[in-house]
Amino acid sequence: MALSTVFSDALPTKVYRKIVVMFCVLLMSLYFLYYLSDVCHTMPRPVRGSEGYLAADFDEWQSLHRKTLLHKLQVRGYWKGDMPEKYFRDLRLQFQSFNLNRQTGDGGSVVGNPLPSTLSFSGDGVRKLPQAIIIGVKKGGTRALLEFVRVHPDVRAVGAEPHFFDRHYDEGLRWYRGLMPKTLDGQITMEKTPSYFVTKEAAARIYAMSKDAKLIVVVRDPVTRAISDYTQTLSKKPDIPSFESLAFKNRTTGLIDTSWSAIQIGIYAKHLENWLLYFPMGQILFVSGERLISDPAGELGKVQDFLGLKRIITDKHFYFNKTKGFPCLKKPEGSSKPHCLGKTKGRTHPNIDPEVVQRLRDFYRPFNMKFYQMTGQNFGWDN
Ligand SMILES: *[C@@H]1O[C@H](CO)[C@@H](O)[C@H](O)[C@H]1NC(C)=O
Ligand SMILES: *[C@@H]1O[C@H](CO)[C@@H](O)[C@H](O)[C@H]1NC(C)=O
Repeated sequence: MALSTVFSDALPTKVYRKIVVMFCVLLMSLYFLYYLSDVCHTMPRPVRGSEGYLAADFDEWQSLHRKTLLHKLQVRGYWKGDMPEKYFRDLRLQFQSFNLNRQTGDGGSVVGNPLPSTLSFSGDGVRKLPQAIIIGVKKGGTRALLEFVRVHPDVRAVGAEPHFFDRHYDEGLRWYRGLMPKTLDGQITMEKTPSYFVTKEAAARIYAMSKDAKLIVVVRDPVTRAISDYTQTLSKKPDIPSFESLAFKNRTTGLIDTSWSAIQIGIYAKHLENWLLYFPMGQILFVSGERLISDPAGELGKVQDFLGLKRIITDKHFYFNKTKGFPCLKKPEGSSKPHCLGKTKGRTHPNIDPEVVQRLRDFYRPFNMKFYQMTGQNFGWDN
């Protein structure tokens, strides 16, 4: 032993032994620390944000993890209806403190500060910002389209409506990405929020996220859409005024109240102008809400082409429920049972005075013509 020859003559044996023991202990501790850090490195663990504190409290971490799973179920659409504010607040807290700032540092500002578009996180796949968004329109058939398109194995979609570009933009892109499902290479991330189409700021905001985003708008005859919109509101608030009294500023003169949202949403040409300031027409696909019902496979063919997907969804995926008057999926994504839309969809409409309907047709006609011209598609609402 080199140590013994060096030290044995110079030092008393007791001191020499102590030094050897301490040296061994030091080596062992170093090895142990090294081993521990290696184990920790490969373990999935919570990563704290800019506050810079580590998740020492395992119980807390576990409860957060359970929450993540719960929210995942909700976001995947097992949980229907509007999302309460609390849901968003919980999610924000969870994502802020939990899985966001892998590369700690910036506070998550949005525009002009491009952040990596993927976030890896233990396990299968990564969360990405959506590459395609169904931006509208309300009562156009966006739910049906999303349920149909997510049958495709290369599409992963958020079930609930995130309302990021209209209501929750302040939460930041990291929060938004946290809502997205994990995707594998080659899979497209999608979401749908029908109010984006009529939200003035949405086009610029989506453009700031990604100028290559593909946008899908499901449009439907604006008159039927308005009546359907009113019917939905009526089912929630039975004591609202009649459709006729809301539609007109002055029934005698026949002046339409364009500030009423049920009317305003259907002026598609006007809303579209705003989107064309940011996106070329080729980046927006217009899906006919009527054909989505009469020929879902045909419409889905166009959607798959637009998204650059292999045409996998075909006639075989649908059957028509005559009672409902609606196509249903034989095997919806993530389930083996057939699925038709909930009973709130396709509810019967109240009888509206035919004169009022005619007045509305006349009102929308020029806007429809403009819309056909802009899109190069005749949707046949005025034939
Ligand atoms: C509706 O228009 C008619 C004719 O111009 C007018 O006499 C009436 O006062 C108007 N009613 C309302 C509520 O503005
Ligand atoms: C068709 O729709 C009706 C009414 O919603 C429902 O009761 C029935 O189970 C559906 N049939 C099939 C085969 O999906």
